[in-house]
Amino acid sequence: MSATELKGDFDARRYRNVLGHFPTGVVVITAIATNGEPVGMAVGSFTSVSLDPPLVAFLPDKSSSTFPKIREAGSFCVNVLSTAQESVCRAFATKNADRFSATGWRPSESGAPILNGVVAWLECSIESTYEAGDHHIVIGAVKNLAVENPSVPLLFFQGGYGGFAPDALVMGANPELVEQIQLADRARDHLDMLANDLSVAVHAVAVAGDHQYIVASAQPQNSGKVPARVGRRLPFQAPWGAFFLAYQEPRQRESWYARARISPSDERFGLLEAEMSLMREQGFAPSLRSDQPVSYETLLEEMDNHGPTPDLERQVVSVTESADYFNPLSQLNEDNAAQVERIRVPVFAANGHVALVLSLSDLPDGLALSDVHNYVERLKSVATAVSASIEGHRYTPSRKNGASQMGVVRFV
Ligand SMILES: Cc1cc2nc3c(=O)[nH]c(=O)nc-3n(C[C@H](O)[C@H](O)[C@H](O)COP(=O)(O)O)c2cc1C
Repeated sequence: MSATELKGDFDARRYRNVLGHFPTGVVVITAIATNGEPVGMAVGSFTSVSLDPPLVAFLPDKSSSTFPKIREAGSFCVNVLSTAQESVCRAFATKNADRFSATGWRPSESGAPILNGVVAWLECSIESTYEAGDHHIVIGAVKNLAVENPSVPLLFFQGGYGGFAPDALVMGANPELVEQIQLADRARDHLDMLANDLSVAVHAVAVAGDHQYIVASAQPQNSGKVPARVGRRLPFQAPWGAFFLAYQEPRQRESWYARARISPSDERFGLLEAEMSLMREQGFAPSLRSDQPVSYETLLEEMDNHGPTPDLERQVVSVTESADYFNPLSQLNEDNAAQVERIRVPVFAANGHVALVLSLSDLPDGLALSDVHNYVERLKSVATAVSASIEGHRYTPSRKNGASQMGVVRFV
């Protein structure tokens, strides 16, 4: 019985989807083929089996062209990949790739390659092989093993790669982000006051590395709404986070465009450059309510509830890559003012860079143009006050880490 013949709507897609919710580590199984060539394949099905005697197992697909060579070799090496080795994993999962050019290696005692930079390795001989559906189950007897590099192992989950980070370090792990949070702390009182005065939600967003993060958030008192979760990660790729780059040299926007696979000849490139020029001119940026079937906000709420899973991140990126987001608002007027949902303004650091972006969101429906301008002015004056309060502010990184026993998966 094949997966497609199984009960009712149980098909291969559902099987893969459900199993994709179970995370695995990633190893590369290597060997020296009988012709002397090194061979290897990425495997997520590695597991320990027995301590006495020491046995491990992995499950190669019957269609694999590499496994027969490993089987013939009779012994293999299990290489536990680190988070820095995502590209090695991809190379060893790609057919016809020059897999060993992805990394250097040395032979283990039996000759099987130990890849450079792996977390750990286990040298094994094939003890037995069983058939199981479209896979084999290979049992290996462990001959030797070592931790090579006690770093964070690569994890695979929902088709995405990640790493493991102790819970308490997830935010603190990025010193750049700690600095932004300290800045946002100075904005806190201003944000609370503004949220109450205007009866709308206010956020401060900062950039650290390739992402934006909500670093402060306020809701009007008694609104019954929970402020957006501080620490929430947002995409930092075109068109998202344009304010952070609008005042920089065009070449500093290159990787931001590249992450969204937008080249200078792309029509969207021109639209975004024009939008950034308007941002500089006006000192604010409005966004309009969109008719997306799944809104960006809904997805972000899901992320608050479930964490930034690869599946949700893909959905956010696909929503943000859709046409509406590349249709920037040219000029505000009486007709489109009623559609304005969100307003953003930059907060400048002393060096002229944008340190934070403040935004008013969930604006009431049907605003008049004068209402929008009123919101803009209020938000701009808070941005000026926050700018003044961070002038001369110096960040001193704290080296103390409050490690906890709990762990979470952090997607890198
Ligand atoms: C994260 C990850 C886990 C994988 N796990 C397995 C596995 O457990 N068994 C398997 O046969 N292939 C697995 N693969 C796929 C193989 O690496 C890939 O299909 C294989 O190397 C194809 O080339 P081959 O024909 O040279 O074997 C995995 C791939 C990735 C990216």
